[in-house]
Amino acid sequence: THRVPFYGRHQAGIATPAQDRLAFAAFDITAVDVQDVQVMLGTWAAAASQLTKGLQVGAVEVSPDRPPIDTGEALGLSPANLTITVGFGPSLFDDRFGLAAKRPAALAPIPALPGDTLDPQRSGGDLCVQACADDPQVAFHAIRNFARLARGTAVMRWSQLGFGRTSSTSRSQDTPRNLMGFKDGTNNIKDEDTDELDRFVWVGRETDQPWMRGGSYVVARRIRMLIESWDTDFLSDQEKVFGRYKDSGAPLTGKHEFDTVRLAAARAGKPVIDANAHIRLAAPESNGGKKLLRRGYSYTDGIDPDTGLLDAGLFFIAFQQDPRTQFVPIQRRLGGSDLLNEYIRHTGSGVWACPPGVSAAGDWWGKSLF
Ligand code: HEM
Repeated sequence: THRVPFYGRHQAGIATPAQDRLAFAAFDITAVDVQDVQVMLGTWAAAASQLTKGLQVGAVEVSPDRPPIDTGEALGLSPANLTITVGFGPSLFDDRFGLAAKRPAALAPIPALPGDTLDPQRSGGDLCVQACADDPQVAFHAIRNFARLARGTAVMRWSQLGFGRTSSTSRSQDTPRNLMGFKDGTNNIKDEDTDELDRFVWVGRETDQPWMRGGSYVVARRIRMLIESWDTDFLSDQEKVFGRYKDSGAPLTGKHEFDTVRLAAARAGKPVIDANAHIRLAAPESNGGKKLLRRGYSYTDGIDPDTGLLDAGLFFIAFQQDPRTQFVPIQRRLGGSDLLNEYIRHTGSGVWACPPGVSAAGDWWGKSLF
């Protein structure tokens, strides 16, 4: 049916098998009255329930004398497994709306991390909306209509399109390749790993904010790849950077993609997987056992006018129970000495609290927060 249910205990678009396309947007609230925010979130939830069924936003159009409510470009297209996932940024909990006491401790702004070259115009935002679908027009249509419904209450701060998934989040999926040509998502949390989802992804009783139970925190990082430079690197060095073979995706200590990574294995006193290889530094063994659910997308935004080089890379998205003990320490380690750093630049960043799922018509994101 190509339909992912919108209502549920958890928001769709997190453990949902990663769709092929992404349209992501961060919004800033312009309204001063918290009721306007509530009304907008309610309107968005009603719209999301329609869109994820492949229906238009709003009632059937009747009046030729006003603009149509739905912009129309998804008419006749399948829902394409559309999911719409909404998150609240730390800035939503400042003094404006009286929500300061409701801010979860885990929703702390991401601190400065080694190697950061962040553009404030591609970072932050009071709200985020992640639309994923197997059809790019369906994903874009959702974001465009959300922006329209937000008019007068919130404005889009920045947005990012992703043209291909760079992770698998289900054992039913093949592992896709990122723009460096490597399989990405091999050692990811999969939706079948319900135990790991509870331990690392879904917020549980440990939270200081009951309204977040069943939710998750998302960190997005726009990571530009220095593609031209990467493309001049020898194959053996590319494989050393990740600690995996390019063709098979197998760890350098194994033969097949899903072989266990043996970080301790050494050859003539030197580790087979380099001391600064990406999969060593990112591995749970190097990070107090912590894991992330990665759900990123490849992007390209044309040519960098300053250099004439491609502006392309990975729009990294990761869901987790607490960024303070998951994304932040992992990225601090990677940003320090990952061999990959020679070929990447982090250019955008954001963190948002994604509340639990919308339960039914009349409910909306974070209703129990306000
Ligand atoms: C693993 C690519 C950034 C966390 C991998 C793998 C590749 C890869 C090819 C091995 C296959 C797999 O297990 O999925 C990249 C690229 C990046 C990037 C190209 C930037 C452009 C990041 C960042 C983080 C991260 C920013 C987190 C802060 C991980 C983790 C693993 C992994 C946790 C699994 C390690 C393991 O347990 O074996 N990445 N990655 N990656 N990456 Fe990245």
